[in-house]
Amino acid sequence: MIISLLLWATGYIWVTTCLVFSLPLFLSMVLENKKVLIVGGSHGMGLGAARTAVRSGADVVIAGRDVEQLRLSKEVLGPKSRTICFDLTDATTYVGFFEAVGNFDHLFISASPGGESRFEAEYQNIQNSYLYGKFWHTFMFLQQAVRRINTGGSITLMSGGYAVRPHPDYTLVTVAFAATEGLARAMAVSLAPIRVNAIRPTYIDKEGNHTSIDKNLVGYQGTNGDIGHAVVFLMSNAYMTGQVLEIDGGASIKL
Ligand SMILES: NC(=O)c1ccc[n+]([C@@H]2O[C@H](COP(=O)([O-])OP(=O)(O)OC[C@H]3O[C@@H](n4cnc5c(N)ncnc54)[C@H](OP(=O)(O)O)[C@@H]3O)[C@@H](O)[C@H]2O)c1
Repeated sequence: MIISLLLWATGYIWVTTCLVFSLPLFLSMVLENKKVLIVGGSHGMGLGAARTAVRSGADVVIAGRDVEQLRLSKEVLGPKSRTICFDLTDATTYVGFFEAVGNFDHLFISASPGGESRFEAEYQNIQNSYLYGKFWHTFMFLQQAVRRINTGGSITLMSGGYAVRPHPDYTLVTVAFAATEGLARAMAVSLAPIRVNAIRPTYIDKEGNHTSIDKNLVGYQGTNGDIGHAVVFLMSNAYMTGQVLEIDGGASIKL
């Protein structure tokens, strides 16, 4: 009886130990054998996502305009990364870009080309506006990108808190972010089973610190790593689509 109890206890401890130690390893490799493309992956939140994706087992292609910044990012990301110099606003280069990238599994567009956004600004046409810079180029790019996405793949788009809490000086930022969220939902329907989501970050510290603020519930700003974690979650969770993930430390529900 005592011997059986001892054997049972030893087996129980062994199984529990194996589970405890293998679980983090299992969770950390959620993108193994997957290829991830991040437009705007050479800096900021895009780089944060690229770092988490590499740590999660993915092969990552990052795209941005500045060659030196791409080189520095490649040093950070290591051998499982590749860099391509690319300007999202130059649609004439899209075909060559996708030939260089090849097919891939998951796409995150972090780059948000700018433009005029004040309501009272003079607009001769839409092309100098933030709406054109951010939304239209994202849309044009996606039309070609979807042809390259492998079965089981996903797209994650970048919105921001201004989508739902407008700033008086950034009218067209609000419009562009809201349109991007609408695009994520619309594409989730029209491209299914490709999954499409958006993230809506607020108060992200560009220097990568949890700097103290009093505007949200946690009392500090988010980091590019926090965003990377959320993006990899959306890429790897097979049941997430058509959603906007708010990442704001609880700012949206703070009284
Ligand atoms: N910080 C926040 O709290 C916050 C919150 C919500 C939303 N956002 C939005 O998120 C966007 C990204 O923020 P971030 O802090 O990660 O910015 P960031 O540090 O400036 O990084 C932007 C990345 O996009 C690339 N990029 C910019 N324009 C590009 C273009 N035309 N073609 C290709 N790549 C381009 C940049 O590389 P190159 O410059 O070398 O091209 C860089 O890799 C912002 O533009 C903003 O609209 C920010």
